[in-house]
Amino acid sequence: PRTAAVIPAAGRGVRLGPGAPKALRALNGTPMLIHAVRAMAASRAVSLVVVVAPPDGAAEVKTLLADHALPERTDFLVVPGGATRQESVKLGLDALPAGIDIVLVHDAARPLVPVDTVDGVIEAVRDGAPAVVPALPVADTVKEVEPAAPGEPEPVVATPERARLRAVQTPQGFDRATLLRAHEAVVVGEGATDCAGLVERLGEPVVLVPGHEEAFKVTRPLDLVLAEAVLARRRA
Ligand code: CTP
Ligand code: MG
Repeated sequence: PRTAAVIPAAGRGVRLGPGAPKALRALNGTPMLIHAVRAMAASRAVSLVVVVAPPDGAAEVKTLLADHALPERTDFLVVPGGATRQESVKLGLDALPAGIDIVLVHDAARPLVPVDTVDGVIEAVRDGAPAVVPALPVADTVKEVEPAAPGEPEPVVATPERARLRAVQTPQGFDRATLLRAHEAVVVGEGATDCAGLVERLGEPVVLVPGHEEAFKVTRPLDLVLAEAVLARRRA
């Protein structure tokens, strides 16, 4: 089965603070997006990578891909993204050619995911799971709250049992037809924060495989410090 990776990279990165779109920010001198593209292309199973660029940044992303060394066995496509992650992923899916039957969706904001994690996800889809998500146990206790006015203390409504919670990562892997169906079934205003959430709504099974600490998402400024430290450790 042929496998493609769709990389949503169209976000601004509001939580990271002002500057270039998050995926284009450098980590140790190389744009985060290039690290993420290399992480997908590192898997020998991935024959195509579709980058979903910032809406006005497709030309810049094409130039970046041309200017950085990437594996020759992998094909690359660039499409402009949308207003939400979900829309951006859909635009990436729409660009997939015939003959692809497994799709990975991987955040550009998770540039350091190890290839073993990528291969583990692909293998689980090949073994028959329609939707596969890498995940880790959560370290913090998590509270559910009632929304409060800004500046007001938030009332707690529940504390889910931590041992049963998992923090999910990407790449999430899917049988292509299942992921397409999940996206087509979306009701306006009822999106999900990850693709697997859409598959769950179809009533299809979603399974977890072990994630990796280095697959963390670069979200806030401290995450840049951590990402550069991980890269420095890899080079040591
Ligand atoms: N993403 C996207 N299109 C959007 C929004 C997000 O492709 N309209 C992508 C981001 O580029 C990122 C991934 O979805 O690779 C995960 O999103 P997140 O970490 O939230 O990134 P941003 O939305 O850019 O960050 P923020 O929420 O802080 O603005
Ligand atoms: Mg976001």
